[in-house]
Amino acid sequence: MAPPPPKKTYLPIFLLLFLSSIFYLSLHHSSTSPHHPSTTAYRRYPATPPPPPPPSFTLTIKLLAFDRLPSLSRCLHSLSAARYPPTDTVHLHIYIDHFKIPSGSLDLEQKLNDSRRILDFVDGFSWKYGEKIVHYRTRNVGLQAQWLEAWWPSSDNEFAFVVEDDLEVSPLYYTFIRGLIVNYYYNDSNFSPSVYGASLQRPRFVPGKHGSKIQLDREARLFLYQLVGTWGQLLFPRPWKEFRLWYDVHKTKGIKPALEGMVTTGWYKKMGERIWTPWFIQFIHSRGYFNIYTNFLHERALSISHRDAGVNYGKTAGPDSYLIDKDFPDATFLDMQPLNTLKWYDFCFREVVPDRVVKSFNELGSVLRSVQKQETVLLVSLYKASETDTRNLLCHFERLNIRNYIFMGTKSSFLLDLARRGHPVIDVDQFFGSISAHKALGFQESKLELIKQILVKAYIIKKSLELKYNTWLLDEVMLPISSDLFFNPIDLTYDFYAGKMLKLLFVKSSSLARKIWVDDSIYKIASMVDTKTDKDSVRSNFMYIVANFLEQEGVNLKDLDNFMFGVDVIGSNVNQTLLTDGKKVVYWSSDMGSDLVQKRLEDLGMWLLDGDSSCNAILCHPS
Ligand SMILES: *[C@@H]1O[C@H](CO)[C@@H](O)[C@H](O)[C@H]1NC(C)=O
Ligand SMILES: *[C@@H]1O[C@H](CO)[C@@H](O)[C@H](O)[C@H]1NC(C)=O
Ligand SMILES: *[C@@H]1O[C@H](CO)[C@@H](O)[C@H](O)[C@H]1NC(C)=O
Repeated sequence: MAPPPPKKTYLPIFLLLFLSSIFYLSLHHSSTSPHHPSTTAYRRYPATPPPPPPPSFTLTIKLLAFDRLPSLSRCLHSLSAARYPPTDTVHLHIYIDHFKIPSGSLDLEQKLNDSRRILDFVDGFSWKYGEKIVHYRTRNVGLQAQWLEAWWPSSDNEFAFVVEDDLEVSPLYYTFIRGLIVNYYYNDSNFSPSVYGASLQRPRFVPGKHGSKIQLDREARLFLYQLVGTWGQLLFPRPWKEFRLWYDVHKTKGIKPALEGMVTTGWYKKMGERIWTPWFIQFIHSRGYFNIYTNFLHERALSISHRDAGVNYGKTAGPDSYLIDKDFPDATFLDMQPLNTLKWYDFCFREVVPDRVVKSFNELGSVLRSVQKQETVLLVSLYKASETDTRNLLCHFERLNIRNYIFMGTKSSFLLDLARRGHPVIDVDQFFGSISAHKALGFQESKLELIKQILVKAYIIKKSLELKYNTWLLDEVMLPISSDLFFNPIDLTYDFYAGKMLKLLFVKSSSLARKIWVDDSIYKIASMVDTKTDKDSVRSNFMYIVANFLEQEGVNLKDLDNFMFGVDVIGSNVNQTLLTDGKKVVYWSSDMGSDLVQKRLEDLGMWLLDGDSSCNAILCHPS
């Protein structure tokens, strides 16, 4: 498994000298750092333009050590040999966990001596780039407390780089980290609140059971992946603080990480509080955050683990990757591509596409094309849906591997959060603006809100028909019982299927549907909204209006309400058997109390949310 030790390559000396002098010239005209002798050369690849001056930030290395002096020494030397620009401050905090006091006194003397040697070593270790602080524990706290207690950010301009003592970092690691901070934290156009940091280790592990293998194209230098790395992890201050608070709440209340479908949950069951990653993974899952990773090809990384015998390894396993040593791997080493060109992957290593917010009719086509599956799209209206019902629906989609959906709703922080997490949305108001601009609409102000909803739905269906897709419209949140529903709809002898009670519409991609679903009919549909009725009445129900319209046009419509298609969850006698009885969806009226609905869904095993309103399982579907 472990690759052979890295091959060292050296730049010819004259080139080194040449580069050194360039950096001496380019950097030392500014003030020199108090920590740096002015001769320190900060080497950067000459082809890369200098990064913009960042706001002043500090990085603190959090080195977690235990009882392995040779490992610690190798780690410290690699950190100290790295290049730091004289303008930067980099602190070094070393946390030395105490040994477990053995029951017999046999080793005691030896262990005390070993600890003393480690302390003597770090005391004598000189750190020129910032302050050095040593924290020597009085008792054994283990890796979880070592990690969690290592940092409480004191400002939004403070970063931590956490390394365990059997790591070795590249001399270029800081150059790279600095580039990441400048480009993905301080550059507004590349900042995303979803990003919690960066891992310098080579990604190898996919924690979702049955997840995809990590496969990246050669061009992808950077990508985003939800999993935390424990071999050289850069942490951004805000998400870490948020995690610490989240952990506090959960730990205090005895809520344990229990995400089903994750290998790490199994680790937690075995090792409990000796490890910390299951906690962090659960937090990242609930927030939908991501970590930046590198892809340097040929098993290379800026931080490698020697996997020395210790807490994680019974015996030494050797380096996990090749360390990028003295040389920049190539001219693009420091290229930080715009965030919106990078790929994002979830815990199953399945691609996620964040921030798809459709704001106009013209933008709709490409998103519909990207979500459709078997030429079918699912439009879900969130007009009346609660946040938890919507989240629960998403868990059902995930469980059934339904991925061809798109949400529509009024712009809200919730709608944007769905988009941030990779669920495509249509911003109804902006979309409406784009369709009404070229049509003089004579609708009354009082009906506008309702007309807007109806027109937007009608136009989305029109676009879908143009692209030759079948369209399901879930006009309210309902839960599919099996995945085949949205792909093999009924018998398909009709072009339209609608359930007024179910609030479900199916429009087949057919030439008849395309012939009648044109602009003129859309305005006819909109004008059928009854002025005298309020927006909740049956006559403003989209299915009702569509049914009337089709009747006028003499087109047949199959009624889904009479089709034994759905199960009303509030109805009496609802039980598991019904779910296996050929029914397709579970629905309820939006007037029903949410507590009652939740209770019923829980009884049916269809409430899939945990206490954070996140899915209680991660299910990877091999593609
Ligand atoms: C521990 O160190 C002391 C003082 O240096 C020495 O006398 C003693 O022999 C050492 N004990 C062991 C077990 O190494
Ligand atoms: C910020 O990022 C954008 C997109 O990558 C880039 O075009 C721009 O030059 C960057 N700004 C600065 C100040 O580096
Ligand atoms: C479930 O409901 C059906 C229909 O009401 C009924 O016949 C059946 O006995 C119920 N099953 C259970 C296990 O309660």
